[in-house]
Amino acid sequence: MDSQFADRMSSVHKSFIREILKVTEDPSIISFAGGLPNPRFFPVSEVAEAAQKVLGECGYAALQYATTEGHPPLREYIAKRYAEKGLKVSPEEILITTGSQQGLDLAGKVFLNKGDKVIVERPTYLAAIQSFGMFEPQFLSVPLHHDGMDADALDRALSEHQVKLVYAVTNFQNPTGITYSSSKRREIADVLKDRNVALIDDNPYSDLRFMGEEVAPMKAFLGDQAIMLGSFSKLVSPGFRLGWICAREEIMEKLIVAKQAADLHSSCFAQRVVHQYLVDNDINSHIEKIRAAYRRQRDTMVEAIEESFPAAVEHTRPEGGMFLWVTLPEGISSLELFGRAIKENVAFVPGQAFFANGGGENTMRLNFSNSDEERIVEGIARLGRAINSMMS
Ligand SMILES: Cc1ncc(COP(=O)(O)O)c(C=O)c1O
Repeated sequence: MDSQFADRMSSVHKSFIREILKVTEDPSIISFAGGLPNPRFFPVSEVAEAAQKVLGECGYAALQYATTEGHPPLREYIAKRYAEKGLKVSPEEILITTGSQQGLDLAGKVFLNKGDKVIVERPTYLAAIQSFGMFEPQFLSVPLHHDGMDADALDRALSEHQVKLVYAVTNFQNPTGITYSSSKRREIADVLKDRNVALIDDNPYSDLRFMGEEVAPMKAFLGDQAIMLGSFSKLVSPGFRLGWICAREEIMEKLIVAKQAADLHSSCFAQRVVHQYLVDNDINSHIEKIRAAYRRQRDTMVEAIEESFPAAVEHTRPEGGMFLWVTLPEGISSLELFGRAIKENVAFVPGQAFFANGGGENTMRLNFSNSDEERIVEGIARLGRAINSMMS
């Protein structure tokens, strides 16, 4: 008998991370597995004040249905922040979404038919594989180096295949922590230019730079061919589920229809509260606090790794964001290591989950934003013991 479920469900697996996080709910486990921001920086009392103000000043409008595009002052605020970074974007090019995750879903709905080709990084953001996977595309993966996607491999893939979308996380990538260099961005833009393909530049982490030089977004190199995704999850709080998608008019028209069909609009109350919070508080100094803490946590993790892991184990040194990436010697399985690590009461995400077409069995992702320094030192020492026991 045919399955009662749609074909698309068979190509999508349960979130590997969610399954793993179940194991890590035990408080005695030090978890580097999740992708959570540090809750210490959630502006709870400022949000309470903003919510009071919204309810007091425009409570009836805040609790009513609203437009699909999003709260106009919030769209203007986002456009203004892009302008501060030298990008000219009009508020009409911004659609407020239910997290940037919804931006992925909407892009999938607007662009992808079954069997269409999507280029992703190798490795890439797990939930993008899941989200695009709902539209049953064929994934092509292009290797990711320390400075971004391999431009020659991208060029070859685009010459050999008709590709609808290229998806990249260009700043402090999830899972590797790497950032595309300026010259790599230009190379990629040169490859994409004059080709009928859109680049999705998924960018929830760029404000979390704690060292190094800021790099201009892909749109500065590629213009309207770039679709940008942004998020309030890492700067304010993921609980609001607010992000945005920025695209040129002809794409925006389609995105709005897709969004309307999906959920009419993102929470209008949440949008107003976030906007009120942003205008009433110094967001830049808030961001500075997060950066300083994440930098300490990252430094602590890097130092601890260099102390506890065998020299043959490689790791990235991210200049921002929330993750770093570890590569074990060839032939050492991170999935097997996960079992041993859990016995040592420490967890991570085995890297193969981030590969759309297989591979990465000897890699793993470590999150440093959600553990304080003491737990990072202890957790990495435990993980070092597990790795050493496997390699000896
Ligand atoms: C690369 C990337 N894109 C999108 C998201 C989704 O973020 P949100 O929907 O909370 O904006 C995440 C969250 O971890 C992410 O790492």
